[in-house]
Amino acid sequence: MDRAGSLLSQRLLDVLEQLLRLPGGDMKATLSHVSDVIARASGADKVDAFLYDAARDSLVAVGSSTQPLSMLQREYGLDVLPVSNGGRTVRVFVDGETFLHGHIDQDADELPGIREALKIKSQLGVALEVGGERRGVIMIASQQPDFFSPEDARFMETVAHWVGVVTHRAQLAEEIGNAAAEQGRRAGAEELITVLAHDLRNYISPLNMRLDVLRLRAQRDNRADELRDLELLGRSIGRLSELLNDILDVSRLDQGVFHVRPQPVELSALVRDLAGAFGAARHAIQVTVQQGDEVRVAGDPARLRQCLENVLANAIQKSPATGAINIFVRREERPDRTRCAVVEVIDEGPGIPPEQLPYLFERFHGGRGRDGGLGLGLYIAKRIAAIHGGDLAAQSRPGKGARFTLTLPLER
Ligand SMILES: Nc1ncnc2c1ncn2[C@@H]1O[C@H](COP(=O)(O)OP(=O)(O)OP(=O)(O)O)[C@@H](O)[C@H]1O
Ligand SMILES: [Mg+2]
Repeated sequence: MDRAGSLLSQRLLDVLEQLLRLPGGDMKATLSHVSDVIARASGADKVDAFLYDAARDSLVAVGSSTQPLSMLQREYGLDVLPVSNGGRTVRVFVDGETFLHGHIDQDADELPGIREALKIKSQLGVALEVGGERRGVIMIASQQPDFFSPEDARFMETVAHWVGVVTHRAQLAEEIGNAAAEQGRRAGAEELITVLAHDLRNYISPLNMRLDVLRLRAQRDNRADELRDLELLGRSIGRLSELLNDILDVSRLDQGVFHVRPQPVELSALVRDLAGAFGAARHAIQVTVQQGDEVRVAGDPARLRQCLENVLANAIQKSPATGAINIFVRREERPDRTRCAVVEVIDEGPGIPPEQLPYLFERFHGGRGRDGGLGLGLYIAKRIAAIHGGDLAAQSRPGKGARFTLTLPLER
């Protein structure tokens, strides 16, 4: 290796070492550090790491070396370079090719501000790739003519590659930080909702009591109109109460105090009873019990009912007026030879879009629909299945309805 070559590799090693020592903080801090490291290694009067900002269609000097020329650049507003204005920095970004010039003061393609106000004579610019994508430019400048050599250009190309890696690391760290903050905000919001639900529920009983009094009075005086209104009011209060209970159930699940009281439960009877309760709706709900009548599991009857109720309520809500809903109850042997109980709820509604399926059982998913649901029903249903050692799964082909399958271990 010749002397120039060995000097170059020594310089590269020094810079690499300094880059690796950078704390993995936010992007801006990282790019400012990087610019300082390069300024020291190259002897330049100014180093900028420009990133492309799509909103402004501009290259923005996110990190600059802490040198007098950089401050002057900011004063002249030359730290934001609109792509439409052209100039050498923009060219490097657009073409991706390294730019080296020793007399930029005579280069008509450079912006006058950079030539005249900053009095820059030498420039070296290389494209900056982050995570496999061209994201900006590293531009180094000197007020002396012919300051940078082709060797410096090679040096900068290698350094830019490392800067890309360091920047990517900073970007990922920033994203993780944002996700954690978002999670914190969410946890706070959920706690507030839970407290609110708890307090609001205290108003439900007095409301119902008052409603009963009004209902009796209307019946006594034969006021049919009022009875109808009170009936509607009663249903709204019922729905409100269900919403509040769902929120409180989710909070209990989170805190591990969602209690189930297991006892022998005969599923086909439970399903028939549930279908009967929904039977008043206009849909034909057909319950088919295969392999005899008895499908026994150990579980909490109220919670299992709640689980299937949530699934069935969705099926009814999504079904067209003439759509049938089929429920199958049966025993099945799993591949590991354990035997389980299976309840399938199949509807003829619009089905579930494939992109929605992976998130279907997440809380607040798909909620706020026409009926004002919160998107908690399936989340709770699946957790109830899991608490019983079982599972709830969904299958659907869009336009062909949905199939929800609840599996539970059979009672031993
Ligand atoms: N049988 C179904 N057919 C089509 N889409 C369904 C079906 N069941 C559930 N979904 C979709 O999944 C979403 C989530 O259902 P989930 O029961 O968790 O919440 P919700 O019904 O919106 O509100 P909540 O049950 O809390 O009142 C629904 O909003 C709906 O988009
Ligand atoms: Mg629902």
